[in-house]
Amino acid sequence: MSAKITGVKGMNDVLPAQVGRWHEIEAVAREVFAVYGYREVRTPVVEPAALFARGVGEQTDIVNKEMYVFEDKGEDMLALRPEGTAGTVRAFIEHGAFVDGPQKWFYMGAMFRRERPQKGRYRQFHQVGCEAFGIAEPAIDAEQIAMLADFLGRLGVKAALKINSVGDPGCRPAYLADLRAYLTGRAGELCADCRERTQKNPLRVLDCKVPTCQPVLEQAPRLLERLCDGCRDHFAAVRAGLDALGVAYVVEPRLVRGLDYYIRTAYEFTSDALGAQSAVAGGGRYDGLVETLGGPATPGIGFGLGLERLALILEANQRPVPSRTPEIFFVSADGTGALEALKLASTLRKAGIACDLDARGGKFKTQVKQAERVGARYLVVLGGNEVASGEAKLKDMATRAETPVRLADLAAAVRPAR
Ligand code: HAM
Repeated sequence: MSAKITGVKGMNDVLPAQVGRWHEIEAVAREVFAVYGYREVRTPVVEPAALFARGVGEQTDIVNKEMYVFEDKGEDMLALRPEGTAGTVRAFIEHGAFVDGPQKWFYMGAMFRRERPQKGRYRQFHQVGCEAFGIAEPAIDAEQIAMLADFLGRLGVKAALKINSVGDPGCRPAYLADLRAYLTGRAGELCADCRERTQKNPLRVLDCKVPTCQPVLEQAPRLLERLCDGCRDHFAAVRAGLDALGVAYVVEPRLVRGLDYYIRTAYEFTSDALGAQSAVAGGGRYDGLVETLGGPATPGIGFGLGLERLALILEANQRPVPSRTPEIFFVSADGTGALEALKLASTLRKAGIACDLDARGGKFKTQVKQAERVGARYLVVLGGNEVASGEAKLKDMATRAETPVRLADLAAAVRPAR
């Protein structure tokens, strides 16, 4: 045997036994997003590296430290997308979608960040995300957050919603200057990361989890108290919308997000089931982004939700993994039965009924074992006698009860009740 090649660190396989969870999440996402008017967009996994530098921000960890960048055979600098918003906005601009008025788009797919892998944090992970373009009004913020709450609720997930306003270019610069001055004054009490961020991206300092930094951060000036009238009114209207829709939230003044494009509304859903990487979804408003990436001024708001993290929560909740198992497993007693099993299975499958057989043939006991392994509901043994009489026994694998059945009536006998 040759030496085995293992997968890339931080990039996971989803095996058939688990994939039903993913299908369920994706199906519920498609259903819920559709009823809220979101339509799917599919964009490439690879984009020009400059898109993220300009869109997400040169100074963010995501772009600066974690992005997979490579040169395309001496031509362009490309990147594996670390997130979905920049590419979606690029497509929105490139295809002139802005001429059609407000648009609600969603996407699902793999994202890549070269982070240190741990539970809930991987180098390839998957997001479902939504982006609503062309609506500056706070009603869409509330509607979108409520949709995400609906989606999580449909999967039985209880997640805490945290919201904040991160201001806009009108009120944020003055606040950032004050915050930087404050943090500089207490630099001696801060960790090395915070000291570096104080200069490059002071808002991110508020997000630091290092215990010794907490007293400094708790006393830091708060942006929520410094919002301009426009941002304050917007935030109040978002909260009123959430209240009206019965969506529970807490205002978290230190909630800042790791991407530079946000203004005004920022939000996250977190779950205790996740441990340190507690955010299952995060998003916010990015009114300047379409313009930054070369399109006409267009407001936008969106979120991304981590599929691996959501799957971890469903697993912690012991939610069963949905799977489609055969209704019937045919066991053949002889060559005549084996051929008939092949034909009957084909007929039933064409009628949409899942069934299976052991194509290896072989010993009766081995075939029955395979039926158990694949979780078949009924067993039907076929041999020369059954083929001649057109009748066999339908054996319920759970109760062991046997009922006679005409082979011609098999489909009707096992079709699951709807
Ligand atoms: P984000 O907060 O960076 O936002 O990521 C959104 C979600 O993706 C996180 O809450 C988490 O569930 C998941 N996630 C992020 N990094 C990892 C990782 N390394 N491993 C596993 N899961 C991860 C964005 O990406 C924005 N584009 C969201 C957005 C859309 N904002 C506006 N529109």
